[in-house]
Amino acid sequence: MSNLKLGILASGRGSNFQSIIDAINSGRVKAEIAVLITDNTSAFAIERAKKHGIEYLVIRPKEYAKRDDFFIKIAEELKKRDVGLVVLAGFMRIVGKPLIDAFPGMIMNIHPALLPSFPGLHGQKQAFEYGVKFSGFTVHFVDEGVDTGPIIIQSVVPVYDDDTAEILASRILTEEHRIYPQAIHFYAEGKLEIKDRKVRIKYIEKKLLKALHNPPLSGF
Ligand code: GRF
Repeated sequence: MSNLKLGILASGRGSNFQSIIDAINSGRVKAEIAVLITDNTSAFAIERAKKHGIEYLVIRPKEYAKRDDFFIKIAEELKKRDVGLVVLAGFMRIVGKPLIDAFPGMIMNIHPALLPSFPGLHGQKQAFEYGVKFSGFTVHFVDEGVDTGPIIIQSVVPVYDDDTAEILASRILTEEHRIYPQAIHFYAEGKLEIKDRKVRIKYIEKKLLKALHNPPLSGF
């Protein structure tokens, strides 16, 4: 069987994109990256794609008369490359319906807070300013709402008294890099099942499941 093909959508520095590249290169994730699509000509993610010989496309919304047309174009390019999972890695736009319809249940996102709390922009800062004692991140499937899709994995990160929003963001990011590839791995192995908006990870060893719910996770 050929590897799952990933289409990565990123708008910025692309550190999660890098963690996916690294997980694939080390054999932890059985997938290949078919293309990086960015809406930002100066995204650092482009440099990462170049360095690793990954094809990239810059598709900018302002070149399209309608918002839908921008997402139709993205969907076309992903389909052309036979993409089986679309991975949002810091893609700073609400995904349009044409793309969601083209890839039903096949788009993943990572949000830097424990949803449904603190959706939208700057989840880490929102949580920090609210004064929570624990935050974290959420890997979820994408639907038409803002960070509302079925949750795949969440991981908890503590907030300490002497933290700043930046320190917390970086603690969360370190965890994101470890777990996002794991979620992609589960998808690639056909282990994710969505029913009534609940995602079940099939055939997972109890030990690993427990570890996922009680970070830090050792192993993977
Ligand atoms: C991460 O905080 C992620 O949770 C959010 O956007 C940020 C992307 O960072 N969706 P990077 O571009 O992957 O470094």
